[in-house]
Amino acid sequence: MEAVFLENAGVWPLSFLEGEMAARRPEGDVGHGREAFAIAPETPADVPAREALLDRAMGPKRKRKSSEKLRRGRLPAEGLAFVARGPDGSLVGTVRLWDVRLGETDAPALLLGPLAVDPAMKGVGIGTALMRHAVGEAKRRGHGAILLVGDAPYYARFGFSAEKTGRLSMPGPYERERFLALELVGGALDRAHGVLKPARRNTRSEALARAA
Ligand SMILES: CC(C)(COP(=O)(O)OP(=O)(O)OC[C@H]1O[C@@H](n2cnc3c(N)ncnc32)[C@H](O)[C@@H]1OP(=O)(O)O)[C@@H](O)C(=O)NCCC(=O)NCCS
Repeated sequence: MEAVFLENAGVWPLSFLEGEMAARRPEGDVGHGREAFAIAPETPADVPAREALLDRAMGPKRKRKSSEKLRRGRLPAEGLAFVARGPDGSLVGTVRLWDVRLGETDAPALLLGPLAVDPAMKGVGIGTALMRHAVGEAKRRGHGAILLVGDAPYYARFGFSAEKTGRLSMPGPYERERFLALELVGGALDRAHGVLKPARRNTRSEALARAA
């Protein structure tokens, strides 16, 4: 069974995905389509499965990361939380981006993470599709830069590097060579320096207040 939709992973209706999988399946192949997936916006119903997947993929220490200080009690940036779903609709990948401020300059930027893929589905392109979709959508929405703490050899393929993070820092322990950035607008990080801060708005309590 070949992997499908890796080139142009977007928001594919699952009915379309299933039709396409069936169309591509060679006659007599009863493969279960492990490699097929679709990228979609995260919904509130995805939260329990997303948390379970993060526990499986990253372990219990995941909440001690310095990035968590910029995420705790907040909501992801508007329209920038995505999941990957398998053919049966189950959640097999997650990525979210968060509004942050760049230290002394206070300029807005995004923090990406966590990115995680179901360990049983690693290596079929889900992480890549989630990253490409998230970066593309952040750019479309007019954001200037994305930062993250992660493995440079993985994120380099999406254009991330430590080149522009030398004068920035995270609000907690982290490994400097893993602090990476991608400019979506050329020069967006040229003057950036200081410690990353959470953006002032977009807290969970404000969202609850709006919903009340
Ligand atoms: C890292 C992760 C998101 C990658 O997702 P994935 O769907 O397996 O990745 P893809 O299928 O899109 O890409 C696979 C490629 O990435 C490479 N890769 C995967 N993890 C890597 C890493 N940590 N460092 C360098 N390369 C890595 C693979 O070797 C493979 O390379 P190839 O294309 O040359 O064969 C996934 O393995 C995961 O959830 N890991 C645990 C959580 C985690 O570490 N999250 C990221 C924080 S840095």
